[in-house]
Amino acid sequence: MTQFDQEHIEVDAFDREYPIEELLPQELMESIGTDSADMLPGQWAILNEKGNWHYRFGSWNPTLSGRLTNRIVEKQPEGETICVRSNGSCIALFPIEYELEIKGYMAVCGPCQAKHQLLETGRAGVNLLKQLIRLKHQTMLTSGLHGLVVEESYADLKKKAEQLSISEEKYRNLSASLEIEVQKKTEEIRTAHAHMMQQEKMAAIGQLSAGMAHEINNPLGFILSNLTTLMGYAQDLATLMQHYRHLAALCSGNNRGGELPSIQAQCKTIEKSEQTLDGAFLLADIPVLVDESLSGAQRIQKIVKDLKAVARPGESEQELINIHESLDAVLTIVQNRISPKIEVRRVFSPVPLLYGYPQEISQVWLNLVLNALDALENQGTLTISTQAARDQVVVTISDTGMGIAKSNLPKIFDPFFTTKEVGQGTGLGLHLVYHLIAKQGGRIEVHSQPGQGTTFTAHLPTEKG
Ligand SMILES: Nc1ncnc2c1ncn2[C@@H]1O[C@H](COP(=O)(O)OP(=O)(O)O)[C@@H](O)[C@H]1O
Ligand SMILES: [Mg+2]
Repeated sequence: MTQFDQEHIEVDAFDREYPIEELLPQELMESIGTDSADMLPGQWAILNEKGNWHYRFGSWNPTLSGRLTNRIVEKQPEGETICVRSNGSCIALFPIEYELEIKGYMAVCGPCQAKHQLLETGRAGVNLLKQLIRLKHQTMLTSGLHGLVVEESYADLKKKAEQLSISEEKYRNLSASLEIEVQKKTEEIRTAHAHMMQQEKMAAIGQLSAGMAHEINNPLGFILSNLTTLMGYAQDLATLMQHYRHLAALCSGNNRGGELPSIQAQCKTIEKSEQTLDGAFLLADIPVLVDESLSGAQRIQKIVKDLKAVARPGESEQELINIHESLDAVLTIVQNRISPKIEVRRVFSPVPLLYGYPQEISQVWLNLVLNALDALENQGTLTISTQAARDQVVVTISDTGMGIAKSNLPKIFDPFFTTKEVGQGTGLGLHLVYHLIAKQGGRIEVHSQPGQGTTFTAHLPTEKG
């Protein structure tokens, strides 16, 4: 509410004219009339300032009224007036003044002999009415003000409540959009994190790819060479077959006696041909070449399968995982990083299958094994062991490498922490290992002795909690 509005209302409340009908309401007059019957004369009445009748008490004779009204309208008497009637009765008229204004008149009527008493009781009556008016006025003012105050504070409260509900609505909308924003950002971070994990994995596999290409190329090379040799053998065998067929045709002729020399000549040719082709060697060599090629092809098949198992992108489905198979797949794809001076020990005990994301588990092993190989610097021992322990599968990956400085131990799982040269390490490997093991419901521990080696122990629950 403005300053102006407030002033306006206050002026209104104090400025209002209260007519006698409001100042001396009927019900009040009824009770005065009854309570003061002994003190006031038997007939009295009240008129307003315009001479209109407001209240009549007792046996007031209405026929008196017209004359009094006229007198008031004409003269607007400001003092007491008394008139004597022909029947010997007197009427005294008293103005009822309040706050310097004549609010109305009190008329009393009685026998003229008792004129003085009539005047006195009339005055007393007017005084009483004035008191009542004052009280009533004050009450009305106060209640009016109270009403105003109540109304004002109610209006004020209502306005404030409206404002509150508007701002509440605003905050609700704001918090809803904040929530959406947070969700969006969380989603973005999650996607970025997943992307980062995938990048890290692909980076590791990328680094391994040259070696893996070699791993594939080697068997592929001898398979091709074997196939070329086998092709030559096949041609030699075809030539021999031709000689044999010719011999068979000669043998099946009717005049066997006459053809004998040609049969003998053909046998000579076959013998010669076998000598040239080294048929015995050829027959012995074929299964060797085929065997070798088969195992080469199987080797390629395994590399591709293991590479697929480790490099397969995304979070696909949860599956039952054979931990030994996933460790072996990792060993396959890091094969070319394992120098001859590194001894790999697989100490596998029977362990149950685990339920989880296979490619994520293999990423754990890949990062741990690559770190171990980095630490080994081409010599020493890499030990991978598995153990079943109550409701867990425990996998340890241990190396006899350089170890981790005590001051670095608390930092190794932090993202981007690396002690490797630029281009050699991203510092994300262990961060992802930690994250992926936690996702699996497990935990990872590290023990390291600088100069002696490091052991990472992964505890993976068989039942996800
Ligand atoms: N087996 C380990 N032996 C010694 N140090 C290790 C080993 N594994 C991890 N570290 C240390 O932890 C750091 C962080 O490892 P990681 O998160 O895999 O990042 P990156 O291999 O890219 O450096 C490495 O830089 C290295 O200092
Ligand atoms: Mg690493």
